[in-house]
This record gives sequence, structure tokens and C-alpha cells, in this order.
Amino acid sequence: MQKIVVDANTRLGRINPDLYGHFAEHLGRCIYDGFWVPETSAIPNCGGLRLDVAAALQKIHPPVLRWPGGCFADDYHWEDGVGPREKRPRRVNLCWGDDVETNAFGTHEFMRLCQLIGARPYLAGNVGGGSVREMRDWVEYCNFAGDSTRARQRAANGSPEPFRVSTWGVGNENWGCGGHFCPEDYAAEYKRFSTYLHDFPGAPLYLIACGPDGNKPEWTERFFKKLGGYKRIHGYAAHYYCGTAGSATAYSTEQFYELLHKSLYVERLIIEQRALLDRFDPERKIDLIIDEWGTWHPPTPGTNPKHLWQQNTLRDGLVAALSLDVFNRHSKTIAMATIAQTVNVLQALILTQGEQMVLTPTYHVYDMYQHHQGAESLPATFECGDFSFRGGALSGRLPVLAGSASLKEGAITLSVVNPHASNAAECEIEITGVAESMSMTLNELTHPDIRAHNSFAAPETLRPRSGKATLRGGRFKHCFPAASVTVMRICAAGFQPA
Ligand code: AHR
Repeated sequence: MQKIVVDANTRLGRINPDLYGHFAEHLGRCIYDGFWVPETSAIPNCGGLRLDVAAALQKIHPPVLRWPGGCFADDYHWEDGVGPREKRPRRVNLCWGDDVETNAFGTHEFMRLCQLIGARPYLAGNVGGGSVREMRDWVEYCNFAGDSTRARQRAANGSPEPFRVSTWGVGNENWGCGGHFCPEDYAAEYKRFSTYLHDFPGAPLYLIACGPDGNKPEWTERFFKKLGGYKRIHGYAAHYYCGTAGSATAYSTEQFYELLHKSLYVERLIIEQRALLDRFDPERKIDLIIDEWGTWHPPTPGTNPKHLWQQNTLRDGLVAALSLDVFNRHSKTIAMATIAQTVNVLQALILTQGEQMVLTPTYHVYDMYQHHQGAESLPATFECGDFSFRGGALSGRLPVLAGSASLKEGAITLSVVNPHASNAAECEIEITGVAESMSMTLNELTHPDIRAHNSFAAPETLRPRSGKATLRGGRFKHCFPAASVTVMRICAAGFQPA
């Protein structure tokens, strides 16, 4: 019998809501068709913003949305995307399939989107293909309340009030598509750019430097060495993707395990990158961030490989849950995580096709996990052991059960993943310090087929089922189905509201 013990009397720190952040790039059909349609479209929209997509996102309370890339950011010139739409230039999207970028969706449209879904904007500036002047002007355009030419331009374009954008990325993947810099050269560029990114009243900047590709130590060591104690840096962002051979929907049981195993490597990244950062920043003034993460499967047959469109199965949902549990458990160590990407690209929460919209298993996991946002993390001990698997390209061990716990508004949220493809797991759950009865509501996402997914023809193949129970004392038993994500909300009179 497995056992999970949740200590309701100890607090491990607040789970930053930003760990549940999102990312949207001008790539494939993420922006156009995904978030945005022509205002004249028959698809219900508010000034071009799709209402179905916006409503789905509102429900899961996205704290922050990163835009416009990704690789696209370092070839994006923000002035192309402001002013009368019919006058905006048509450019070639060099990173993503030479698609013609109409610039119909630009800064003002993005700000309206953020406002509509309740997310804080996070803008990624152009270091690789742009200039210091261009980025400092974008900051002034967004944030200056006075009477400068840039502020007048913003007002003439419909926004007299500044947008007050605090969160800015200084480039993206500058070790690759963002200019192929070595760490030392990027550190020099970082200092030069950030020097001129100004804190205007009401919008103190939070500047994020480009971190490593995965858990590579060398970029971090050399970047910070060269930075030499320079202080105008608030966040440092790594990227972490995982994938296997096969495809998004056609994979063996071994590849199912292989992907889950690879996704858990993000925990090692967090621990080891923070340890490296600590050598240069022992007081932890610089936040560790992961501003792109998720599954990246081989190209979907019949689609443009440069559009990175992929289906999203129960396997992706389990990756989302395992990863969010890692972030929750390390909420003291990691400040923000934005999944790649929100709509129609990579590990999407939402897929659209014409006027249709499908919510993926990853979406349902974000919905189920939203109680963790802003909650107090609680120690949860999983006395569950592990099992071994042989994967296509790797063999290893996976935990029988994994998860995290938190406390908010007098209720405990316990999320639990059973990564085994065919074995259910019987488990005793103990909430320490509770003697009286508790009420429990539960949401569970699972399916007998580990390749199950939601399609436009069958959009509800996977959706959480719910249940509730009244429990005596602080202990109860639950059987976690094979290949499942379960979120329990547990209330007892004695819980101290967090
Ligand atoms: O998310 C897709 C791409 O992955 C991004 O544009 C880039 O930053 C990363 O390589």
C-alpha cells in the first residue's frame, strides 16, 4: 500500500501564480487563427480577439502571457505592429516557414488580449536583430505617461494611458536563433541593452536575461562570470523541452514512459541551475525562470513542420501535471514558468480549427491545478516507491505516485499523478493534525487508452470526472487509476486559512 502524508501545519512558502504562465508566439497558427481572426470573421470576436479562446483562458486565470516570441522576437520590429492596420508592413517570418507576417496583431492588440484574459504582459525584446534604441523606444512607447513623441504616438494609436509593462525579456535563446552569441558576448549585449531600458513612473522594470538551453551549466557560468556583479537583472530564464521518437499520438508504452521520465528532468534543472546561480547571486536577488517548457514531438504528418502543430494526448496531460507539481514543490526556487505554447503550437492548451475549438488534456490539468496558484506550499511525503521501465531510447525509474500539496482559503489541494500505463495504485492519505471529519471533492483526468486525445470530431474524449466524499478523521484511502491526474480539495474545520 502506498502512503501520502500531507503536513497541514507547516508552510513551505507561497506558490507564485506566475508558475502557471503562458507563452504565445507568431508561429504557425498560434496568433492568427488561434488568438486572432479578422474583425469581419464569422467567428465571434471582440475587435479580432477570439471570444471562445479568451473565455477558456479566463477560466484558468493565466497570470502572465509572454509575447511575441520565441525566435520570432529577435526578428520582430515593434513599430511594424502599431498604427493603422492597413498601413502595417508585410514581413517574412524568417524563423517559421517564411510565412507572411501581416502585423495585424501588434502591441495594442496584445495589450487588449492580456486585459481580456486577465494576464500580465511579458514582452520579449529584440536583441539579435534589433537595436538598443529600438528596444528603449518600445519601453518608452509602452510606459511613458508624459508628452514625448513616443507617448503621443501611443495615444494617437488609441491608448493615451501607458500600458505600464514591467516584465521584459532582453532577447530570446541568444545562444541560438537570437544571434548565436557566446555567453560573454551576450553578457556584454545584455548590459548594453538593459542600461537604456528605463524605469518610468508606475512601471519599474523586471528584466529577464536569456538563460541556458536546458540544463547546460556552461552558459550560466560564463554569462554570470562576464556579467561581473552587474545588478540590473531580475530574472534568468532557461528553456526546457522534451520529446521522443514516434509522434504526438502514435507512441509505444515505452515511449510513453520515456517522455514522462524526461519531463521530470526539469526538477534537476531547477536544482542545479539554482545552485550555479547561487555562486554568483547568494542572496537570491535574481529569480530563476523557465519561460519555455513542454513537449516537442516529431512533426505531425501532413502539417507544415515549421508550424509545430501537434496533438495533445493523455501523455501530454501527465507531463503538464508532473511538471507543475515539480514547480509547486520548488516554489521557493523558481519564480515563473510559461508553457510553450498556449494555442495551436507545441504543448497547446487549446486547438482551433476554423470556428471550432478543442480543450486539450493539458488545458484540463491547468484548470484542475489552478487552486495551487498563490497558495501556500505544504510538505507532502510520498512513501510510494518507484518502478522501472524500459523506454525506446532510455530505461529508468518512475515514481509510483508523484504530486504536491498546498493550502489556500482554508482548503488543502493535493494533486497526484499515477504515471503507470496499466496499474492503478491503492494509497492511504494522511493529513496530519486533523482529527475531525473532512470533506473532499475530487477531479480526475484519465482514460483506458494512454493515447486518448480530444479531436474536433470528439472534443470530450478526455475531460475530468468529479466526485466528493465526507471522511472521518485525518486518514482515508483512494485508488489512483492507471495513467491519471487527480486533484483533491480537502476541507476540515481546523485548517488555518493560508
Ligand atoms: O517555442 C518554439 C521555439 O522554441 C521558440 O521560438 C524558441 O525560443 C524555442 O527554440
